[in-house]
Amino acid sequence: MKVSIIGGGGLVGSMAAYALQFGRSASHICIIDANKDLAQGVALDLLQGSCLVADQRITAGTMDDVSSSNVIVITAGLRRKPDESRLDLINRNVDLFLNLLEQAKSAGLKENSYLVVVSNPVDVLTYLATKRSGLDPKRVMGLGTVLDTARFRSHLAKRLAVPPTQVQALLLGEHGDSMVPIWSSATVAGLPLEQWPGCNPQLLKDAFEETKTAGSTMIKLKGGSGFAVGVSIAEVVQSIILDSRKILPVSSLQNGLYGVHDVALSVPTEVGCGGVRKVIELALTPKERVGIQQSGKLLRDIIDQVEARIGLGNSLPLNASSTINPSSTAKNLPRSAWQPSRKY
Ligand SMILES: NC(=O)c1ccc[n+]([C@@H]2O[C@H](COP(=O)([O-])OP(=O)(O)OC[C@H]3O[C@@H](n4cnc5c(N)ncnc54)[C@H](O)[C@@H]3O)[C@@H](O)[C@H]2O)c1
Repeated sequence: MKVSIIGGGGLVGSMAAYALQFGRSASHICIIDANKDLAQGVALDLLQGSCLVADQRITAGTMDDVSSSNVIVITAGLRRKPDESRLDLINRNVDLFLNLLEQAKSAGLKENSYLVVVSNPVDVLTYLATKRSGLDPKRVMGLGTVLDTARFRSHLAKRLAVPPTQVQALLLGEHGDSMVPIWSSATVAGLPLEQWPGCNPQLLKDAFEETKTAGSTMIKLKGGSGFAVGVSIAEVVQSIILDSRKILPVSSLQNGLYGVHDVALSVPTEVGCGGVRKVIELALTPKERVGIQQSGKLLRDIIDQVEARIGLGNSLPLNASSTINPSSTAKNLPRSAWQPSRKY
């Protein structure tokens, strides 16, 4: 399977490529970046170690490679500035992202490709991709809270002095400040986390806080996330290409699960051949359920603002004409004038 990474010259994209190289399951890793030298440099660097890792084709490409790609990962984006919230990035990144989507469609994006959105604000961009890529929404997913969940598990493990792979703890909802810790199902080696020796409310609060601020901490310390986000992306991509059917908190278009409608956010999702194979709703505590709904409301508000600026777009299937026409925007119209009200 060919995996192309648009933005692959950057920190996140290059780390994803490195993780995919060690994953050894993609047959071809293609690095695409607006900065062509950077794309070539990353591809060459990976290629030079390939004889010690795996027999994969590793190339620097252009948008033309989209037509022959099975999985397209989008990491192209503008980085969050220190103390800037992910959602504040929206206007700067939406236009860049929509432009990339149009380029991918013009380059011949295939109906049976998968799109994995990583650029921030990831839930908003994932929603726009489901509406505007022309792909079946099941084949479009965002990294969502996969990275946050990995950080959460690792931070909890460190504080409890247990092996990180034995901690299971989920974060759902928005990849952002409203993410929701699912304490009700958290375990260490299959045993309830809250009963683990040494565990106490302050430790849990601190581990969650450390997770929530991890993105900003990474930006301050080293310019941004790299290794952890790279392995998180590889986890999602490999679950698709190997049809592993892992249950991962990827972001996808929601139609009623946990009472959330018409936004993309993270819920437990079976990821495999076909993309989003199943989304899973289990009984959560009322606080957890309300937290996910609040993430949904927050994201819906942002999407409303975005769509008021750029227009509703359309969801024509691939190969149909689907250009974004700024003159057809719903600018200045109240939402109620063009969209039925939604319940959360
Ligand atoms: N979803 C998550 O969990 C998560 C985690 C970390 C970072 N991110 C996001 O990932 C994105 C990338 O972060 P980064 O640290 O790698 O930034 P970066 O600046 O290192 O890399 C971005 C790359 O995108 C390229 N690019 C820009 N416009 C392009 C275009 N039109 N076509 C092709 N390439 C283009 C740039 O040349 C650059 O190499 C950001 O939006 C960041 O917020 C998401």
